Order: sequence, then structure tokens, then C-alpha cells
Amino acid sequence: MLELRNLFLTIDRVDDPLDLLHDVSFRAPGGHFMAIVGASGCGKTTLLKTIAGLAPETSGEVRWNGRNLATEGDLLPNEFAYVPQFSIAYEQLTVEESVESAARLRVRCRTREEEDAIIERSLEDTGLAPIAGRRVSVISGGQKRRLGLAMEMVADPALLLCDEVTSGLDPKTEQEIVRLMHTLSRKGDRLVVNVTHSLANLDLHDSVLVLHAGKLVYHGPPKLMSHYFSVAHPEEIYKRLANRDPEKWHRSWCKHRPFYYEAMGLEPPVKGHELPEHATTALEEAVAPPEEAEVPVAPAPSPASGAVDAPPAVVAPSVPAEKGKIVAPDGKPEPDADAAAPSAVDRQSGHSKHKVPPSPGLIAQTLHLFGRRWRIFFRDRTQLFLHVAILFGFPALVTLFAVNAPPSPKVMTGVDAGALDFAIQQRDVFLSQLVAGGFASGLIMFQVILLTLMGSNNSAREIAGERMIYEKEKLAGLRPSAYLASKMAFLALPVLMQAVWMGLFVQIFWPFPGEITSHLVSLVAVTAAMTAVCLGISANMRSADQANLLSVYLVGFQLPLSGILLALPQFIETFVRPFISAFWSWSSSVDALSREYYTAVDTVTDTALQSAPIGLFVLGLHIAVGLFAAYIGSRKTFWD
Ligand SMILES: Nc1ncnc2c1ncn2[C@@H]1O[C@H](COP(=O)(O)OP(=O)(O)OP(=O)(O)O)[C@@H](O)[C@H]1O
Ligand SMILES: [Mg+2]
Repeated sequence: MLELRNLFLTIDRVDDPLDLLHDVSFRAPGGHFMAIVGASGCGKTTLLKTIAGLAPETSGEVRWNGRNLATEGDLLPNEFAYVPQFSIAYEQLTVEESVESAARLRVRCRTREEEDAIIERSLEDTGLAPIAGRRVSVISGGQKRRLGLAMEMVADPALLLCDEVTSGLDPKTEQEIVRLMHTLSRKGDRLVVNVTHSLANLDLHDSVLVLHAGKLVYHGPPKLMSHYFSVAHPEEIYKRLANRDPEKWHRSWCKHRPFYYEAMGLEPPVKGHELPEHATTALEEAVAPPEEAEVPVAPAPSPASGAVDAPPAVVAPSVPAEKGKIVAPDGKPEPDADAAAPSAVDRQSGHSKHKVPPSPGLIAQTLHLFGRRWRIFFRDRTQLFLHVAILFGFPALVTLFAVNAPPSPKVMTGVDAGALDFAIQQRDVFLSQLVAGGFASGLIMFQVILLTLMGSNNSAREIAGERMIYEKEKLAGLRPSAYLASKMAFLALPVLMQAVWMGLFVQIFWPFPGEITSHLVSLVAVTAAMTAVCLGISANMRSADQANLLSVYLVGFQLPLSGILLALPQFIETFVRPFISAFWSWSSSVDALSREYYTAVDTVTDTALQSAPIGLFVLGLHIAVGLFAAYIGSRKTFWD
């Protein structure tokens, strides 16, 4: 049983709090199919998010099976499912792989057979079995909605919250999806809530809840709705609602609610604890005698005898409905509801028959995400091509400059020579140091800068680009730590390949004059640092474009702010240097050069060189800070 008691969601505005949801109270049992309808912007999605725990209420209570979710624990990930309007599947996967992935992230299965059975059941239940092998990128809009439902059904949730899953579909497909949701509500003791602005197919629901400007103005059987609003067709309801103050509609509803709940065979919702000060205590007014309540505007002519402010006596059941049965206006139980509805005790006490399956462990989730990421990577041709192109292209670019490498810097030999010869030799050594040192410094910097670019390309979109899918999976029980661990494991390989390949390929054309291993370590460190920092950016940005832009700026500033090309004013250098990964990598690689090259680089640069251990330590800090930021960002909730 889902029960909302005097729920308010208020946004603070100076001297004028705005109620997105105002005094919403309703009950809906298991084995029930409920529609939430209302004009665009009336608060349907907000209400669904409040139930799902994504938009915390300001006051009032959300109760599930008698449990107050605010004080006695949120809904467990597998206790409910939330199907958003946007697509929640990766285009590169097939329908079956998407459902399999959902199952692996949500349900802890003991055997492979058990898992296969869950996947098969979800595909069968949603009618997707015949297209199980088809890629998500090619399936139709209606099939995508089915897929959204199938991916949720793997957890066999007791509460299924669907937000506009039929919007944008043709009437026939819309009806098919509504029928599917109806069927899903008949399997087990499941409450299915269908948020929609469409007024078609309402008869397929057990109850319809109408929201108007954040206020609840009706919740009852679909067949009584037209009578209540005194309209000939449900399609006219929105027009009718617009003719009267939402508060009046709400008060009117509070007055008549008991009758409609009786028609549904349910107890009306219980009054919540306290209403906010600014709120009208509609429920209290509702118990006042009818003559004291405000009389609404005259109802529109109706084929039935119903009036806006009076219950439709003509269609009222002659005897109170048997508790727990959905009753049609003629007093007969609905065949569907009767067949599959749970017992009366279940409906009224709200104790669900559902067992909540446990979520898989951290390692199982990490391994699955790691495997899935590689699969998507290899199927995304554009991404694959870009990675391969820069993996081989960037080192090739560096070697274009390496082919004209100058000779090694000269060293002073003729210390016994005469003064003139000594001066000439000193000049020659200085000139050769300038040329060779400038070349070595530039070539190392070029490698480092290209690797920072590769690092940013590795991760800038990694989290921001799939944020909504991640949010959805997190809501369904995915641990942020498993998600981040899988990203780190996935990115480790490109980082290693890019840095090592860069170092070794350039080595062919310009053998590194020093310790190549130390140089490679410095290249790996800078690639990892930039990848980690951009992953941190990616996890904290709302869109992939934002994350990309910020990462590109970060890379773009590496060279000018490193102080290697042009010296920076001292106070700027002191302030920015700790953040410039490229400087620390360059410095570490220069430290690995042979003595004469090191001296040569020292001659051409104004910057004080740092030792390799210090450089690597700072890069290690960059990696740690980047990953910490990624962890913090991946724990945040970024629902639209
Ligand atoms: N965080 C917020 N701050 C301010 N206003 C908000 C916020 N979230 C939602 N709203 C406003 O609350 C109202 C209800 O939004 P909601 O998304 O719930 O509408 P809806 O009924 O789902 O509409 P639609 O049918 O178009 O999806 C809208 O006017 C919206 O602008
Ligand atoms: Mg909405």
C-alpha cells in the first residue's frame, strides 16, 4: 500500500513560498494500476520523484506498506522501480544485453540459470523476446518504452513508477504500452503508477489521480471521473479545471473523497501530522458541513446527473464495496482486478507479498560494468577510431620533429687551451647546449602536452556523457564505488598504452638520452593525472559538453602556464605551478636525462628544475585529487 498524507513540496521564495505539491493525500494498494494525470507543469513528475525519494517533501508523509519512508528508511532499490521518460539504455547494446545488464546490476543470482530465467521472464512479459537480439539504436520508440519496463522488471518490483512512458507514441502503440503496464500490475501484488498527460486509455486503470497546479483534485475510479467533473468526455477535464481556482477544486475534492474511496473499496487516507503554516487546511475544512463549503461555479451540462460539488448518486454502488476489490460504477467487481487482486487483508493492511531480492556485491557490479564498458567501447566505431587515431597519430606527430634532431650538446674538453681557444670552445659548447637543450626540452614537452590531451580525451565525457543512465542505475542499487572502480579499471589500459607507446615510438627516432624507464614512468604519470582530473570534472558536470569544454581549457592552459615556453611572473608561477601537471612530468623527464642534456636544458630554461621524485609525487597528488573529485561527483544526484 502506498499512502501519501498531506504531502507538501514547497520552494522557498522570499516572502512567497511556492508549493509545487500542495496537500496531496491518497492511498493506492498493491495489485493496482493507477494513472496520475494533469496538464503540463502541474507537478506529476515532481510527485513521482517525491515518492521515489528523488525530491524530498517539505512536510507530510510518504508511507509504503505502513512504513514512513522519511523516518523508517527509504524504499530499497529493488522494492521499487522508476521508469523515466528518457531512454535509459546504451544504444550500442542489444535489447537482451540491456536487460541482462540490468539484471546483473540489480539482482544477486546464485546460478546462471536463475539469471537467465529472470532475463527471459522480463523479455517475455514485455513482449520483447522476438527482438531480443536487436540493437537499441535501431528499435522503435514504443519498443524502447517496453525495454525501459523490461529493465525494471528484472527486480520484480512491488512498486513500479512510470513517468510519461507513453508520450510521443502513436495511439495504437500508446494503448499497447498502457495494456502492458496494466498486465504488469496484475502480476503479483504490484502497484503500477502511470504518470501521463494523455487522457486516452484511462479506463484501463483502476484509479485515476488528477493533479491541478500541484493540488490533488480527484482520485477515484476512471468511470466516475467524468461525472465528478461534470463533463461528457475525459478530454474536456483540463478545460473544465482551468475555469476554477485550483484551491477550490482541491477543497471540493477533500469533501467528496470518502465516497470515491468507498467506490474503490479503500479507506480514505489518514490525516498527516502537521500542515505548514502557509497552507490552507483543506482536509479540516472538508469535514465541515457541505453548506459551509464554498459552492463551485455551475457545472457544465452533463449527460449524467453528477455535479461538480456533489457525488454522482446515480452511479453510486448500492452497497459499500467489498474491501479490497476494485469496483466499477455499476457495483460489480472488475473482472481483471478480481482475478489477480491480493486479499483484502493485504490491501488494507498494505503488507506486500513481494520479497525484495538483494543487490549484487561490489565486486560483481564492478566486473560487470568493466566488461560492459569494453563491449560498448568496441561497438562505438567513432570512439574506437578516434582512440586508435590519436594513439598512433600523436607519437607520429612528435617524430616529425625528432628526425631533425641536433647532435648531442658539446662538453668542455680543452681546459689547457689558450685563452682565445678556451673562449671559442666555451661559445661552441654554449651554442650546442642551446640547440640540443632547447630541442630535448621541446620534444619532451611536446610528448607531455599531447599526452595531457589524450588524457582529457579519455575521460572528459566518461561520466557526464552517460549521467542519466548512471543516475537511473544508481537509483536501482548500483554503488558509486563500483561504478568508479570500473571506470578506473577501464581507463588504466588506454593510459598505459598511450604513454608507453608514445615514449617507445619516439625512442625509435630519437633515442632518449638518459634513463628511458624513468621517462616512461613520468609519461604514464602525467597521462594518468590528466585522465583522473578530467574524470573528476566529468563526474561533477551536468552535461558532456560542459565537461569537455572545461577539460579542453585545462589542457590548453598547460603549456603557457608551465612557464617553460615563456617565464611567468614569480607570484603567478608560485600560485599556478602546483596545478600544472605538464610541468611536473616535463621536470621529471628532464631529471632522467643524461648529465650533459640535463645541463643543456638547464641552460635554456629560466625555470628551476625539480627532481623526479618531487614531480612524480605531485602527479600522484593530482591523480588522488581527480579520483576523489570523481567519487564525490558520482555520489551526487543529477536528475533533470
Ligand atoms: N527545482 C525546481 N525549482 C523550481 N520550480 C520547479 C522545480 N522543479 C519543478 N519545478 C516546477 O514545478 C512545476 C511542476 O513540474 P513537473 O515537472 O512536476 O510538471 P509535470 O506535471 O511533470 O509536467 P509535464 O507534463 O510537462 O512533464 C513546473 O512548473 C516546474 O517548472
Ligand atoms: Mg513530467
